[in-house]
Amino acid sequence: MKRSPRLDTVTFPPITEVKSWLTGREFPADKPLVDLCQAIPDYAPHPDLIAHVQQHMTAPTCAVYSPDEGLPEVRDSVSRWYQRRYGHGPNPAQICLTIGASQAFWLSMLLLCQAGDEVIIQLPAYFDHPMGMEALGIVPRYVAFDADVEAFETAINERTRAILMVTPSNPTGAILTPEKIDALYALAQRHDIALVLDETYHAFVPSSQAPHQLFSRDDWPENLIHFASFGKTFALTGYRAGCLVADEGLIRQALKVQDSMVVCQPRVTQYAVAYGCDHLDDWVAENNRMMQQRHDLFCQLFSEQNAFELCASGAFFAWVRHPWPQLSGRQAARRLVEEAHVSCLPGEVFGPGLEGYLRLAFGNVRLEQIPMAVDRFKQLDSRS
Ligand SMILES: Cc1ncc(COP(=O)(O)O)c(C=O)c1O
Repeated sequence: MKRSPRLDTVTFPPITEVKSWLTGREFPADKPLVDLCQAIPDYAPHPDLIAHVQQHMTAPTCAVYSPDEGLPEVRDSVSRWYQRRYGHGPNPAQICLTIGASQAFWLSMLLLCQAGDEVIIQLPAYFDHPMGMEALGIVPRYVAFDADVEAFETAINERTRAILMVTPSNPTGAILTPEKIDALYALAQRHDIALVLDETYHAFVPSSQAPHQLFSRDDWPENLIHFASFGKTFALTGYRAGCLVADEGLIRQALKVQDSMVVCQPRVTQYAVAYGCDHLDDWVAENNRMMQQRHDLFCQLFSEQNAFELCASGAFFAWVRHPWPQLSGRQAARRLVEEAHVSCLPGEVFGPGLEGYLRLAFGNVRLEQIPMAVDRFKQLDSRS
């Protein structure tokens, strides 16, 4: 049958691709696979959250739709949680609960763009963003994550609808400072476009301070769209728990897409999110500290080998240059599977010109296993 050619040029999901290299492979017990491929908290959700969800599941209402934007009491909990985390935050009418941060991203693109429009995204980029944009006919225009504001301004033209930034970054872990975020917001305001912030990993910023001060401004709804993932914050990635934060009028507009796309975030997920927001601040802070320890140990040990260059690191991720200039990132990642029994993502899935890099999601690896994981790179080091 006739089909849209649009998807022919969209990248295949890279994690699915890397996992397919492992299908049917068995790794010996003395050298098991070290999975540095996907960023998933490796710990279970808090047991009290699970008990809370189980209690709700017996009620008949749990099995039916909620309002498209989510239950009012859940959005109240999310709003209060933002007030604590950011010092200020959206009111419940400025929040729409979504199927992960992923769906919030789609809502934001559909709110802002038509096919042919452009969105400025950072390089390296989180691969799902260009994939989604290209599927919608939106043109991603890359600017280096750490470029100055002038470089972002130079990339703006009459088709530009938004500057989309991921902080902390996937794949590098790098963080935008509150000052840089203010400057990008001012730039978006000057050009009457949106600053879209994907703050999926904000619970893993190495400080209890607010990631930025934009929510303290009365005018933030004019040019800011934000989204985040409770999947990462509360270790619920499979529950598909995210939220979109935007001007109330935009949220109403987004409901036209929400209703036709998913109707609502599942109620079970909403009960889990509300419980997490109301009760788990200390647990989230404790996990943040644990992830910091993993980060610090990984970076310390990794810098003891000198074949792979550690270029950047932060929440969950290290961004490294591999030592084989003749190999693409894909070839290097396959070599790591074959020789080191390590899976990771090739640099080029994060944007053009990044074949020399790999993303290592060390956040999946428990502290006691990090020396063994880094040893795999050291062993390769001596053979290359
Ligand atoms: C930067 C970034 N944004 C969005 C997502 C999607 O999050 P969710 O699982 O909540 O859809 C991810 C998932 O890894 C991510 O890394």
